[in-house]
Amino acid sequence: MSSDQNPQGPPGAQAPGTTATGSIRRPKKTGLATGPAVPGVAKTDPIMVIDSVSRRFGGLTAVDVDHLEIPRHAITALIGPNGAGKTTLFNLLCGFDKPNSGTWSYDGKDIAGIPAFKVARMGQVRTFQLTKALSLLTVLENMKLGAPRQKGERFWSAFIPSIWRGQETANEEKARGLLQRFRLDAKEKDFAASLSGGQRKLLEMARALMSDPQLVLLDEPMAGVNPALTQSLLDHILDLKDLGVTVLFVEHDMHMVRHIADWVVVMAEGRVVAEGPPDTVMQDRAVIDAYLGSHQDVDLGVVTGRVPGELGESAKELLQEIEVAEAASIAEAEEEK
Ligand SMILES: Nc1ncnc2c1ncn2[C@@H]1O[C@H](COP(=O)(O)OP(=O)(O)OP(=O)(O)O)[C@@H](O)[C@H]1O
Ligand SMILES: [Mg+2]
Repeated sequence: MSSDQNPQGPPGAQAPGTTATGSIRRPKKTGLATGPAVPGVAKTDPIMVIDSVSRRFGGLTAVDVDHLEIPRHAITALIGPNGAGKTTLFNLLCGFDKPNSGTWSYDGKDIAGIPAFKVARMGQVRTFQLTKALSLLTVLENMKLGAPRQKGERFWSAFIPSIWRGQETANEEKARGLLQRFRLDAKEKDFAASLSGGQRKLLEMARALMSDPQLVLLDEPMAGVNPALTQSLLDHILDLKDLGVTVLFVEHDMHMVRHIADWVVVMAEGRVVAEGPPDTVMQDRAVIDAYLGSHQDVDLGVVTGRVPGELGESAKELLQEIEVAEAASIAEAEEEK
């Protein structure tokens, strides 16, 4: 990793404190945008710039993003209701899928249409909504698959062990170091199939770090993770930022988003409907409306009490979600005081 990858906390950051879970609150990065937080706002130092990207599946437009910039050395959350197009956008940005139109650049280089393995070589890795650990390989073998440009993979070199043995040892050492950091070292010889859902998520993240990435894309890192592992996963993501890695993650858990994201991008029906710092964006009307996507039978007027009417099951659920988000926001604001 380069020497600029150890920022000692950006200027204008909040003072560190302690969270409800007992961990140290780390400073949020501020001053990321060059203007008011509206969809498409330019960033002071973008690592990724996306323009007019669309992806259609038959008659359905899954992604239709006009302009979006991802800030460097920060944690950006991509949120939105089910089917908003978050995973599809991830797939495009990583080269796992091809758009119908659009361009995007990574670190100033145009990478639209470049396949996933080349994008990964440029320092961008991703994890999946459903973990992709290879069940019949051991934990250590899974880790080694994450190492970049392995010499033994070339056809002729595979027959000459002296070419790849040194690299193999270095990769193994690095893998063990990461497994220790993620507290999976005791499982190194176990098959990935024997890990719990949360441990697989940790393994996937550890494996992503084998290539010293500059940008990590995490698709729902918290889904299916046992609450006992949640805090450690959050800390690992915050550690990445401290190491100078840029993180873009998709998540439905709003508490987590509020806790670790420096910037939040909200998608609905394929478009970016809002973006900004977590506290402001979550109060945004467009964001609350976007979440109605998963509660389409709900009349927002009834939920907010403006229109008289019966609250159905879905409306009650939505109201509860809003109340929980509000309570968390108030509690956190008080904690900060
Ligand atoms: N391969 C595909 N073929 C057809 N339709 C697809 C395909 N992949 C995604 N879609 C559709 O595109 C839309 C966006 O899906 P996507 O998985 O990107 O949403 P998401 O925001 O990640 O949702 P979730 O929060 O449920 O993971 C959905 O309507 C989905 O059904
Ligand atoms: Mg998804």
